[in-house]
Amino acid sequence: MTADLFETVADVRPSFEVIAVGAALLRGFAGPLESELMTALRDVVAQAPFRRMVTPGGHQMSVAMTNCGSAGWITDRTGYRYGADDPETGKPWPAMPALLRDLAGRAADHAGFAGFSPDVCLVNRYVPGARMSLHQDRDELDFGAPIVSVSLGLPAIFLWGGLKRSDKPRRFRLEHGDVAVWGGPARLNFHGVAPLADGEHPLMGRQRINLTFRKVR
Ligand code: SIN
Ligand code: FE2
Repeated sequence: MTADLFETVADVRPSFEVIAVGAALLRGFAGPLESELMTALRDVVAQAPFRRMVTPGGHQMSVAMTNCGSAGWITDRTGYRYGADDPETGKPWPAMPALLRDLAGRAADHAGFAGFSPDVCLVNRYVPGARMSLHQDRDELDFGAPIVSVSLGLPAIFLWGGLKRSDKPRRFRLEHGDVAVWGGPARLNFHGVAPLADGEHPLMGRQRINLTFRKVR
């Protein structure tokens, strides 16, 4: 069953769009696994519900988040960090489902980063109007590993900047099933998401879910 699904993914040969040295968009790469991904996510969210965290500056984020894996990304008034336990439940973050880890590993491999084995998956939930301002992913210890980002649900405009905050970002539309991978010389590029446009996705409803896989430790 599982092997058949993976063969399907390989046979589809999703389109591969290089957006920078070390960064690529794999269009539709996660599409064949959509229902398995939703089931796995439902299970994660049942254990660690979405919540809107507060930045060190005291702003509540418009994006709601949760995590799975051996640690999770959190922000509060004291700063940004990874922690082994969910501060809301006091329990360890739910384990990362093998299906997710495997998808991320295959996407990274496809983009030229062999052997990626993420320990954290940050799950972001955008409702219409939610956005993520330009930032670098730099709370991880290991910048040698790429970031793998899976988009589900409503389409979004991904803002892809450069290594300086002032570099003007380019805009790429990310749709349900698209996977972005960035690493190597692009690992610390600024990126973000423009305010989500309203809409209704046939499978996911009025939201976008993004999964980012990281090697944190
Ligand atoms: C992120 O940078 O963590 C999220 C990117 C996205 O939602 O596409
Ligand atoms: Fe990010």
